[in-house]
Amino acid sequence: MLIGQCSNVSFAYPAYDAFSNKPRTILREICCDFLPGSLTLIVGRNGSGKSTLLKLMSGIYTPTSGDLLLDDCPLRSFREDDLRQAIYRVPQEPQIYPLSLRENLQIGLAQPPDQASLARAVKEAGIADLVGSLRDGFDTLMGPLEQSRSSCYLIADELCRTRTIVRLEHSDVRLLLVDEPASALDPVAELDFCTKLRNSSKGRTVVVVSHRFAQLAKRADMILCMKDGKIVERGTHEELMGVGGEYWELYNAQHASD
Ligand SMILES: Nc1ncnc2c1ncn2[C@@H]1O[C@H](COP(=O)(O)OP(=O)(O)OP(=O)(O)O)[C@@H](O)[C@H]1O
Ligand SMILES: [Mg+2]
Repeated sequence: MLIGQCSNVSFAYPAYDAFSNKPRTILREICCDFLPGSLTLIVGRNGSGKSTLLKLMSGIYTPTSGDLLLDDCPLRSFREDDLRQAIYRVPQEPQIYPLSLRENLQIGLAQPPDQASLARAVKEAGIADLVGSLRDGFDTLMGPLEQSRSSCYLIADELCRTRTIVRLEHSDVRLLLVDEPASALDPVAELDFCTKLRNSSKGRTVVVVSHRFAQLAKRADMILCMKDGKIVERGTHEELMGVGGEYWELYNAQHASD
């Protein structure tokens, strides 16, 4: 049985294209399967549709045509609450809400985690010292004023990662979707984060979008390479390097810029 599946998914944002005055198709006939416990890496140039695909897979948007399945059932057949528990998306732009750190970390959970579990999560995410240095600890307000202080700026990404660790520990996430977890991390730190996520995800199915994917690529069970809203190549790192196409170009461009 597959955990997730995209079956011929196409999508256009409701917004109208400025030039043609029509909705512009962003994803075209996407087909992909996610095996239980697998790590899938999605790569592609800016604007190729990676984030849009993850948003569809998490149920935020509905495909214009085609079907998205979780455990062989269409996403639209799930109750919204059940979907939110089963699929968790780590967004490309981390959100900090004007609430306390504790409230920020437990967002989306039915039951608040205890202090020991929060302490474990910040340790696992590598921000225990930072949190320890906050005047009010977990009760520190994370509003815009606090964010304007450099220490809180630093934890925007990290807070999002810690929230993910908390979420994985406290709810039955079946499909974890991670969109560029590490814009502020170097590739080694990104790999370290993804390894940690995989460990805390305990055999869950994980899909990661990344631009600096050299390390992750060798560990992924499947790589999907997108271009202009389509999956143009798929396979393992070795297979795709052998093709000498879009993936090969992205991989080499990444090395040239390192
Ligand atoms: N809310 C929106 N409304 C209309 N068009 C959008 C919206 N969000 C994204 N797009 C467009 O959809 C296309 C795909 O965007 P998307 O963010 O999915 O790409 P991406 O592959 O994630 O890019 P990046 O690597 O820069 O994160 C782009 O042309 C983008 O301008
Ligand atoms: Mg994106």
